[in-house]
Amino acid sequence: MRKHVSQVMELLKIRALIKPAGVSAGLIIFASTALLFSQSIRERSHDVKNGERIYKSGCIACHGATGQGAPETLTEFKRPDTFPDFTRCDQTTPEPNSAWKDVIAHGGPARGFSQIMPAFGELLASDQIDDVIAYLRTLCRNTHWARGELNLPRALITEKAFPEDEEVISTAINTHGAPGNTTDIIHEQRFGVHNQIEVDVPIEFQDQSNAQSHTWYGGVGDATLGIKREMFSSLRTGSILSLFGGVIVPSGSRSRGFGTGTTTFETFAAFDQLFPTNTFVQLQAGVDLPRHTDIAPQTVFWRAALGQSFAADHGLGRLWSPMVEFVADRDLVDGAKTNWNVVPQMQVTISRRQHIRANLGFNQPFTNTRGRQNQVVFYLLWDWADGKLLKGW
Ligand code: HEC
Repeated sequence: MRKHVSQVMELLKIRALIKPAGVSAGLIIFASTALLFSQSIRERSHDVKNGERIYKSGCIACHGATGQGAPETLTEFKRPDTFPDFTRCDQTTPEPNSAWKDVIAHGGPARGFSQIMPAFGELLASDQIDDVIAYLRTLCRNTHWARGELNLPRALITEKAFPEDEEVISTAINTHGAPGNTTDIIHEQRFGVHNQIEVDVPIEFQDQSNAQSHTWYGGVGDATLGIKREMFSSLRTGSILSLFGGVIVPSGSRSRGFGTGTTTFETFAAFDQLFPTNTFVQLQAGVDLPRHTDIAPQTVFWRAALGQSFAADHGLGRLWSPMVEFVADRDLVDGAKTNWNVVPQMQVTISRRQHIRANLGFNQPFTNTRGRQNQVVFYLLWDWADGKLLKGW
């Protein structure tokens, strides 16, 4: 595995060297990463039959013969609203095996779930728990759903490939130069097996002072509305690919500098790769095509986030994910320079259920730095399909 990491480092180095080559560099990285890392996150093959036997003896009383839950007349407990129906792929596929393993071994409260779900860690060996999980996985019959293992930690700028149910509030504050900040309110919602809608409304505040006065202006920026579609995903290889198409509407004031003043079509591809050691790479490349190119240039952008997740306390504690992003864009006009930024950051889970997370990082331009701001960027994220805001702590 160490070899893989060094290969990634190598790639990023190569990338930094060939930065003036622009788009083609992005594409090379895209293609070569896909090739290099077709190595797999192989799941040890588990004994589904044995898993079924364990399920029928230990779980059926509450989870029912079909996995949809035992009839409520037979169970003593009131069902929590997160009580799983194991036949519902939309509910089960976003959960990684590791989360289920925690709950089965250590009981519901280990992940902020109900204590009605008992701990089986003393009764079942690790392999037996893997077997019963393998059996639970057979209860979702549609294998086209992307698996939650591929839902990698969200980077500050690079968009991930996994379709999400998520609310995010992300703020960027200028740390020098003209004072100002932007807060993006982002709503992401899955529909169907592969799709996700996305709405991003930025709120801008800027100190647009002159020699005489300090004046702060606030307002909405240009809002984005789009659809992301997962095109391919494989838990075996650890890869997922998505395409995005959307519109950036000119809702921001152009005269205040909050908007471009023209409708822009945006499209990008996002490819993510997870390695067996929980190292991951997220790549994104796309274009912004404004309707009126006389007032806003066409731009291309390409981004990479490289990171590693560490679970504290043998997976029961917080999940820490340090990442570094390399972010570039370039206007498609003669003589334009490529803007490169580097964004070191740390994401951490805040709730026990890991459905509330925060990320803090620094966005620093390192080429073409004149007039470009250094920023502190942070977000709060709520994976709302995993439970209410105040549950699961
Ligand atoms: C006494 C009843 C009971 C038994 C026995 C039981 N469970 Fe559960 N289980 C629950 C309840 C209740 C929940 C829902 C907890 C919540 O949502 O707060 C649950 C939740 C779960 C979850 C879902 C966690 C998630 O991420 O949504 C898994 C996985 C699970 N049980 C597996 C098992 C397995 C495997 C067994 C047998 C080895 C088992 N359970 C036995 C009651 C039970």
